[in-house]
Amino acid sequence: MSSEANVAAKAGLEDIVAGTSAISYIDGNIGKLVYCGYNIHDLAVHSTFEEVIYLLWNQKLPTQSELDELKAQLKKEPSLPAGIHQLIREIPKDANAMDALRTIVSALGLFDPDGQDMSREANVRKAIRLTAKFPTIVTTFQRVRNGLEPVEPREDLSIAGNFIYTLRGEEADEVATRTIDMALVLHADHEWNASTFAARVTAATLSDMYSSVVSAIGALKGPLHGGANEGVIKNLLEIGSVDKVEEWVMNAFAQKKKIMGFGHRVYNTEDPRATHLRKMSGELAERSGESRWYDMSIKMEEVVKREKGLNPNVDFYSASTYYSLGLPTDLFTPIFACSRISGWTAHILEQYANNRLIRPRADYIGAMDLSYKPMNERG
Ligand code: COA
Repeated sequence: MSSEANVAAKAGLEDIVAGTSAISYIDGNIGKLVYCGYNIHDLAVHSTFEEVIYLLWNQKLPTQSELDELKAQLKKEPSLPAGIHQLIREIPKDANAMDALRTIVSALGLFDPDGQDMSREANVRKAIRLTAKFPTIVTTFQRVRNGLEPVEPREDLSIAGNFIYTLRGEEADEVATRTIDMALVLHADHEWNASTFAARVTAATLSDMYSSVVSAIGALKGPLHGGANEGVIKNLLEIGSVDKVEEWVMNAFAQKKKIMGFGHRVYNTEDPRATHLRKMSGELAERSGESRWYDMSIKMEEVVKREKGLNPNVDFYSASTYYSLGLPTDLFTPIFACSRISGWTAHILEQYANNRLIRPRADYIGAMDLSYKPMNERG
């Protein structure tokens, strides 16, 4: 260990408190998640995604007029610049949807009218633009790669409503809109998770909001983070029926494979978001008359809990929920991003407001004090 750092390294920074934040709080022992003082259970049932966006950015619930004003600002912004439409047409049709989102968001920064302005006001405007445009980016990419024309978002629809509308070209029913809205509320923020931390590390160098968000998208894509929801549906599709779940899980454990959608760094008990997503998945199964994916998920939860004591996380039941809504499977992680952009931008604003460079140390385990040899003496 290097004598200067001389601090026992903790793999994966587990349990390390890296700073202060007033945005969200987790008590992993009792499965409690709080956004700015409000329990996720209350927000999931009573709030809309737009209200939660206001809450995360302002750390207070909006009054009606504050909410109306935010909605009006969001409604001005979901369209994409012509240059971005052009870029989307150039992206290979088989590109990974998270890679496409990362590339498009990076390019979008070049078109932002606030440019390199780093004032709080300009950064709030950038947060509004990013949050409003994320769903349009995802649905436009999806349509264009399937040979369809983009659909312009409608002013009278919520972010959730516009997601389905711009994806399918027709308005969603109330159940689908409410399901997406609640999923957006549940995924909006989660303390200093990997993608949020990545965003904060980039913001802490005083780099711009787009660069910070691009860092976050890259981190969210990974299968140990947001990419897990896509992994879950792949597994369910591969298994195919409830009677094959037990054997599949036991096989996966025998091969020391990780099962996507289970386990969590912070929760030692049920992830409170999973409680709502399980319920939503069950209700959608009942409504559609196709309960296979929900039934398989319930069986998988039972076996994984029995064998390893692992609980489902947010990604597990979001997979069967989105699948029951007929959403394309490789948009599952981008949908997560359409929600988490609200939390990322809240954290970036918080970081800028009280900034210090984030620069940890490493516990050096490499060689030391070697004598330098010229090239012709190296063996
Ligand atoms: N399937 C099988 N085993 C799992 C597991 C899973 N999903 N999650 C954790 N474990 C096991 C590990 O193999 C390890 O066992 P060991 O001590 O016998 O080696 C133990 O539980 C601890 O896991 P570890 O990976 O060290 O925990 P972590 O805190 O570093 O990781 C996750 C947390 C979320 C990355 C991990 O649970 C995981 O990979 N889950 C699957 C991916 C996922 O759903 N990610 C979304 C998170 S919201």
